[in-house]
Amino acid sequence: LDNSVDLPAGRPYGAIMGLAPSKGARSPILWRAAFDALGMQADFHPFDVTPENLPGLVKALKADARYLGGAVAVPHKELLLTELDRIDEAARAIGAVNAIRRDPDGALVGANTDGLAAVESFEATAGPVRGKKLLLLGLGGAGKAVAACFALAGAELMVWNRDGAKAREFAGVYSASGKPVRAVSDIASVIAEADALINCTSVGFAADSSDNDDAPLDLALLDQLPAHAAVFDIIYQPLQTALLRAAAARGLKTLNGKSMNLGQAVIAFALALPDADRDKAAAAMAAV
Ligand code: ATR
Repeated sequence: LDNSVDLPAGRPYGAIMGLAPSKGARSPILWRAAFDALGMQADFHPFDVTPENLPGLVKALKADARYLGGAVAVPHKELLLTELDRIDEAARAIGAVNAIRRDPDGALVGANTDGLAAVESFEATAGPVRGKKLLLLGLGGAGKAVAACFALAGAELMVWNRDGAKAREFAGVYSASGKPVRAVSDIASVIAEADALINCTSVGFAADSSDNDDAPLDLALLDQLPAHAAVFDIIYQPLQTALLRAAAARGLKTLNGKSMNLGQAVIAFALALPDADRDKAAAAMAAV
């Protein structure tokens, strides 16, 4: 087993770890430009790393104080739960690490910024999450992260997944820890109770930004949402999904995944700054 790793020479750096992050990854461009915008002498390095070589890389990064933290791509998000020095509350609740920071004591801490960014983006459009009743569709990787953070933020959750076992398992874990989360199998019978509908399925996504008329539920059911309800689709490609078009046509508040997507990058970038200044990070990334 070859665990030897080449660390970049020179300046402090952030990094993304993935199977092949250099291919098409946006984070190196975003991070380098944001460091530049802040006048920081720092670089960003994409590590192509296999699951077998991940522990070796983490060990080397722990020992290299120039590593500031960074992003994590599939399939390492779960594996890192056991490789880092500490795991923060959101990453533990979600069961995945998508960002790493270095604490003042030198420890590498696993964080998760996906769900937090979803909550912040939602609150900016639809107001406080606490006490709201949300119907969330889709409990894949993204859906679990979003659902976990909405539950931590005090929402009441109804979760639905095409494969119902995933929804029942998620609801089981969370309701056991005292959170109001229940699995639903029939969207039609509960949608009228929802203050907001959140799509975390991949239905409506278009890899090539082409038109996509697919929707994760029968759009006629939107008529049953209360008039004050918001519809949040975490998809950001395209920005207008069939779900959001139909919701807007009914006069409902709508929100796409653009600010969540930028938000998770901003939060992760802020974790790598010496003062963890979120506003500074947001301004630097918005300028890119
Ligand atoms: P992501 O990282 O985007 O969350 P994922 O983990 O593959 O990707 O999850 C995709 C989600 O979209 C899952 O909830 C999936 O449902 P299943 O768990 O039943 O597979 C959901 N999804 C994908 N295609 C779907 C479809 N045609 N109808 C309903 N849900 C769908």
